[in-house]
Parts: sequence; structure tokens; C-alpha cells
Amino acid sequence: MSDTLQSFDPTLYEIIEGERSRQLSTINLIASENYVSPVVREAMSSVLTHKYAEGYPGKRYYAGCSEVDKVESMARDRCKKLFNAEHANVQPHAGSQANMAVYAAVLEPGDTIMGMSLREGGHLTHGHGVNFSGRFFKSAPYAVDPDTGLIDYQEVERLANQHRPKMIIAGASAYSRTIDFERFAKIAHSVDAFLLADIAHIAGLVATGLHPTPVGHADLVTSTTHKTLRGPRGAFALSSPELAQALDRGVIPGTQGGPFLHAIAAKAVCFELAMQPKFHTYQKNVISNAQELSRAMTERGYNVVTGGTDNHMFIIDLRAQDITGRAAAILLEKAGIVVSASCIPFDPAKPWITSGIRFGTPAMTTRGMGLQDMHKIAEFVDQAIKAGKDEAALATIKKAVDLFCNKFPLFVY
Ligand SMILES: Cc1ncc(COP(=O)(O)O)c(C=O)c1O
Repeated sequence: MSDTLQSFDPTLYEIIEGERSRQLSTINLIASENYVSPVVREAMSSVLTHKYAEGYPGKRYYAGCSEVDKVESMARDRCKKLFNAEHANVQPHAGSQANMAVYAAVLEPGDTIMGMSLREGGHLTHGHGVNFSGRFFKSAPYAVDPDTGLIDYQEVERLANQHRPKMIIAGASAYSRTIDFERFAKIAHSVDAFLLADIAHIAGLVATGLHPTPVGHADLVTSTTHKTLRGPRGAFALSSPELAQALDRGVIPGTQGGPFLHAIAAKAVCFELAMQPKFHTYQKNVISNAQELSRAMTERGYNVVTGGTDNHMFIIDLRAQDITGRAAAILLEKAGIVVSASCIPFDPAKPWITSGIRFGTPAMTTRGMGLQDMHKIAEFVDQAIKAGKDEAALATIKKAVDLFCNKFPLFVY
């Protein structure tokens, strides 16, 4: 048996190295991606991956959990401190699993849930028909205002009164404006529904006070740790003390088996990093970069949904450019710019095709990019979209993007 991955499995090693150089040489505007600190990766690849520990600290189904109990307790305490929450569960493997656990905690199959529809910016797990959330529960989605692209709270209230859901979900994958969790809580509680705040995208902003927190308003909060929070791929859930037991049972035995202790250790590191002043500065820069990039795109004639952003992302409506979101994502990748195709509100195109693209700045801000760099990125994007099917022009832009990216290492702190 060889010592290193490189000597034991050179083909796989080469692929991983290829991915490293792809990440280094491309402008990554995917709003849900980020680059983690080396200390997060160190915890992630530790011996903790060996340990089975079904249950919770102090009450495990397996022996030998003394050390991992400390790890999970640490992660839980830091998570509670970071979000000023009374109870945290740090075991959910990913955002979808955190949502599933919450549903298992407080809902029965067949109950009605009310989340933002996928097309208008919600997530699959908020009640979409192809997902467990739309198959096991009745879904009564809300949209956004067709003129402004903003959440219409009066309409949410009207729908809540009409459908009497057992749970309302506030949170989105593609929404660039501040979410009024307090207002959502009032609506939910007026119809005796639970409010789940899914802060998967904005967790870093919430942790640093740059987006109002749902804690204290929502009954349950879920989040990923790998987007703006800049931690390992994973998730967590928060609740009031009254719902703590139900939440924990929703995770295990409700929906998961053994926890990933290596990931939980990496979450503990991520929570600690997020409490440092530098992380606050980082989140501020993420927002100012998103606002600058949105302005720079608007100046070049692009239509930004809602006219701008309050957070780390925004959506561009490409109908005026006469190109679909899917086609734009493909040609931008040829130019070294990685984005996700995204529905625009009331999108006439199919969800796979889309009329928009979503831009986010968490990853490029981690690499140390600032306001001037956002103008450079806007210029590259505009050039690539105008180049269209001109492969030679796209290859020339790719070379310039390569040179530009060379100046920025993957993680700057
Ligand atoms: C709002 C929201 N919730 C949940 C999730 C699911 O997270 P995961 O991909 O980790 O399952 C996402 C992922 O994009 C999301 O945007």
C-alpha cells in the first residue's frame, strides 16, 4: 500500500489537481460556492471520519465516543453563540437533510407547507413536486410580486389564511433582497403555523449582523455551512428549547444515521472563524462587491432583477440580450467565468433553460477581489456574451481571465 494518493491512485490525483487548477484559473460567480480555510480542510480530513457515534454527546449507541462527544459539544456551543440561539443541532449532513429533519420534527405526512416557489427563488426542499417535500406534504407555494420581484407579504398573508399551512418557510436560493423574518413570523403565528427560516444562503451575513436574524422570530432555523458561512459542506438547525427534543429526534432517528464527526469538527472551526472580526469585514466586502458588480452590469445595459441587491447575489434577466440563461452559462464557461443559470420571476422559459443567470460574490471575495475587480469581471462577462458563438473570441477572453485569476490565490485571510 502506497503512502500518498498521488502514488496509489495517480489518475484520481490528477483529476483532483485538474480541479484545483480549474478553480484557480476561473472567475467563480456561483452564489452558493466558496473556498474554505486550510484549517477547515484539515479538520475535515482528520481521523474523526473513522468514528461511529449515533446519538448525541453523553448518549450514544456506540462506545468509544469520549473524544467525539467533546467535538460535537464544542461545535454545538459555538453554533449557539454565533447565532445567539438556545438550541443547535450540528449533525445535518447538508441543507436538504436539515430541512427534512425539521419537517420530520414537527409535521405529519400530508400536512400543508408554504414556501417560495422554485421559479421565484425558493429551494427544491421548500415543497417542489419532484422533491420529497412536495411529495410527502401538500405544497401551497407563494411567489414574488410580478412587477418588483420582491416578496409580497400581503399576498403571503392572504395565502396563509387561505391554505392554513402547518409550516411557512422563509428563505431562498435566488433572492437578492432582505427577508423580513419578523413579518413572516407574525403571518405564520397568526394561522398557528410554524415558521422555518432557511438561511442556507445568507448565514454568513446573519452571523455577522449584516442581515437581520430570524433567531427569536422563527420557530426553527436551518442553514448550510458551505455557502456564505465559508465552512465545510454541511448544515445545522436551530430551535427554541421547547422544540429542541423534537428537532434532535427529527435528525436521528428521524432522518439520519451516524453523524459525520469530521464534518462536525470542521463546522466547529468554521463557527470559530466566523466569530472573528476579519469575518465581519469579509461579509461586508461580499455585499459591497455584489452591489458593485450589479451596478457594473446595469451600466453595461443588463437588467438586474429587483434593480440590485442587499446581499451576496443577484439575478440578471437576459431576455433583452436575447440569450437564455443556459446558453449564457455555457458560453461564459468557455471564457473562464462560472455562473449558474437561474429562473427569473415568472420565467417563461423551462427551469432547465431559464431566462437568467445568478451572480454571487462570496467565492471571489474570499480570493481577495475588491471593487475594481468587479468592474473587470463585468467587462469580461459583457465581452463573452457579446462574443456569442465566436469560439476564437471566447478563447481570447479565457486567456485574459486566466491571467487575471493568477493574481488571486484560492484563500486569502
Ligand atoms: C435555501 C436553500 N436551502 C437548502 C439548500 C440545500 O442545501 P444542500 O445542497 O446542502 O442540500 C440550498 C442549496 O442550494 C438552498 O439554497
